[in-house]
Amino acid sequence: MWFAGATDPAGVCSPGRVTSLPVRNNKPFVHVAMIAIALGALAGIVAYFGDWLPAPASREAGRIWFIFWISTIVSIVIFAIVIAAILYSVVKFRKQPDDDTDGPPIHGHTRLEIIWTVIPTIIVLLLSVASAIVLHKDSNAGTNPLKVEVIAQQYAWAFKYPSGLQTGVLRVPLKRHVELHITALDVLHSFWVPDFAQKQDAVPGQTFRLVITPTRLGTYPVICTELCGLGHSVMRTAAVVMPAAEFDTWLADQDAKLAGPPGEAGKTVFANNGCAACHTLKAAGAKGAVGPSLDKLPAAAAAAGLPLADYIRESIVEPNKVIAKGYPANVMPATFGQLPKAQLDGLVVYLAASVKGGS
Ligand code: CUA
Repeated sequence: MWFAGATDPAGVCSPGRVTSLPVRNNKPFVHVAMIAIALGALAGIVAYFGDWLPAPASREAGRIWFIFWISTIVSIVIFAIVIAAILYSVVKFRKQPDDDTDGPPIHGHTRLEIIWTVIPTIIVLLLSVASAIVLHKDSNAGTNPLKVEVIAQQYAWAFKYPSGLQTGVLRVPLKRHVELHITALDVLHSFWVPDFAQKQDAVPGQTFRLVITPTRLGTYPVICTELCGLGHSVMRTAAVVMPAAEFDTWLADQDAKLAGPPGEAGKTVFANNGCAACHTLKAAGAKGAVGPSLDKLPAAAAAAGLPLADYIRESIVEPNKVIAKGYPANVMPATFGQLPKAQLDGLVVYLAASVKGGS
């Protein structure tokens, strides 16, 4: 359309409906093509060298990357052609000084309209079909997935393994299907590991599936991507991809420790659930300062008029019931109340034994 009129200064085409492309030579096409190639190259460089997304660390992410790059390439081609045509038209067909004439009255160009309808339709259909195939494949967990429950709560993530082991860091084996069952206990949260490319909302009362098949060893951030309250920005943890054999050993080792004497099991629970990040506990070498020092538990229990073990249990399960002086409420996640009973019991025994005789 942009060539109409300008290549027809003598008014060869009759006014009204244009019935054929009014281009008499290929020169404009060559010029537009050259500008388009330059623009495409520029956009390609920005797309390729920009640090947009982390490289895929899972099979599912690899498929998503494929779709992402196909879409990007298609977008770059369309961008380059459209912008090249606009730039060419702006320069070539700009209004000449003293030219007060109107352009020719063009009402449409059927062939051009068919072309610009059919091509995008085909592109969108192909992208939709490819995306549907990828979504279908990405939700396939195979026959023997490792199932992990993901529990979101202001402002922490908890991961529960089939044996009942609960941890604050997600550990997964390399190259095995991992089926996450994601839920929330209070408000909306959203599970996101950028390197795994997928995002899944965590909704109270509902459980959503997400399949991950890690392909790269490493430690990746787990991020909450749904504004869920004041602590939203700190609702982060890590996903660790381990060699399969190492993962099996770790899991067996954890399960053995949890099955041991309550004090030993509690020590493992304390380490697995990130308690040290927020609390000080001399016995564990923990120096966290976000929450009150656990070494002061006996004094706090006495002040609350409860036996030490009962006070510890209450503080874990209902962290907002008694708020230590100088510390805000709603900071300690209640996810630890979801600990299987044996692990909770172990943690209480361990903490009580560790702080006895403290101030
Ligand atoms: Cu949980 Cu944001």
